[in-house]
Amino acid sequence: MQTAVGTDLQLALDLLERGQLVSIPTETVYGLAADANNEDAILSIFKAKERPTSNPLILHFANLEQALPYTTHFPPIFEALYAHFCPGPLTFVVPKSSLVSNLITGGQSTVALRFPAHPLLQQLLHKLERPLAAPSANLYGQLSPTTAQHVLGQLNQRIPYILDGGPCLHGLESTIIGLQNEQVVIYRHGGITTEMLADKLGYTPPIKTQEESGILTSGMVKHHYATQTPLFLGYKSDDKEKSALQITLGPKALIKGPYLVLSQQNTLLEAARNLYATLHEADTMGMQEIYVEPFPNVGLGKAMNDRLARAAAKFSDLDK
Ligand code: TXA
Ligand code: MG
Repeated sequence: MQTAVGTDLQLALDLLERGQLVSIPTETVYGLAADANNEDAILSIFKAKERPTSNPLILHFANLEQALPYTTHFPPIFEALYAHFCPGPLTFVVPKSSLVSNLITGGQSTVALRFPAHPLLQQLLHKLERPLAAPSANLYGQLSPTTAQHVLGQLNQRIPYILDGGPCLHGLESTIIGLQNEQVVIYRHGGITTEMLADKLGYTPPIKTQEESGILTSGMVKHHYATQTPLFLGYKSDDKEKSALQITLGPKALIKGPYLVLSQQNTLLEAARNLYATLHEADTMGMQEIYVEPFPNVGLGKAMNDRLARAAAKFSDLDK
C-alpha cells in the first residue's frame, strides 16, 4: 500500500467513511484515525501500530454535543472544564454508553473523550458527524509524531493517507483526567498543566498511576515514547564529548561536542512543542547515546519529564 501525504480533506473523509485509516493532525501530536463506529476499521488501527488491543483508544469529537450520546454521564465539573479548555488538549474519562465498542475501551466500562482544536481536524469532524478513534500515529512504544513526515517515517506503506496539517502546536499529548470519589484525578500529564486545572478546580488534582487506578493506559506503561538511540536523563560526561548528543532546555555556553537546544527562548512552552521533533532528529544523527537535561518539575515540565523518564526506562532496564 502506498502512503500519500496531502491536504485533501475530501479524500480523508472518503477514506474514513470506507473504513480506511487516515493519519490526522491535532494540536498535540498526529493521530491514527478510524471511524469509531466501524469495528473492522478499529481493529486495523491496532494492527498498523502493532499495539496490544487491551490498550484503549480515545474518541475524538468536534464538540460536546456530538459526544454526549457516547457516555451515560458527563459530570458537571467536566462540563465546566470543557467550557474553559476545549476544544483543546484535555481528555475526559467517563462511563461509556452502549454505542461505544468494547474494542475501543479494551473491555473497560469507561471511555476517553477528546475535543481537538486543530482547525483542519475540526472541519473533518464536523463533516464526518461521527467520532474518530485515534491513538497517536506512532508504532507502539516509539516516539510520537508531531509532523506528517514523522508519521511517514513510522507508518509508510501501512496506511493510505496522512492529512498534513503542519507541525503540531503543542507537541505533547493531551492531559487525561477522570473522576474518582467526586475528585478530578490526572491519569496522564499533558498539554493542560496541573496548575491550570488546579486554578479552575480550587484544588490540585492528584496523579493516579496504573497500579492505583487499575486502568491500563499506554502512557502509564513504563517503557514508552522511546527513541531508538539509548536515551538518558542528565548530562554527558567529558569522555563522551563526541560520541553522545546533549539536549538542553535553553542555549548553554559550556556544552562540548554535539548538542541540540529545545527552546532558544528558554521556555517550557517552546520546548514542549519541539520535544518530539528534536528526539526524532536526535535519532537520525548516528550518536551512540542521547542525554536530555531534566526540566523544572512544574507546568509542562511535568509532562515532559514523565515522557523522558519512560523513554529512558527502556534503556536503564536493558543495562541490568
Ligand atoms: O493528544 C492525544 O491524546 C493524542 C491525539 C492523537 O489525540 N492521542 C493519544 O492517544 O495520545 P494514545 O492512544 O497514544 O494515548 C491515549 C491514552 C492511552 O494511554 C490509553 O490507554 C488512554 O489514553 N485511555 C484510553 N481510554 C481510557 C480509559 N477508558 N481510561 C483510562 N485511560 C484511557
Ligand atoms: Mg501514544
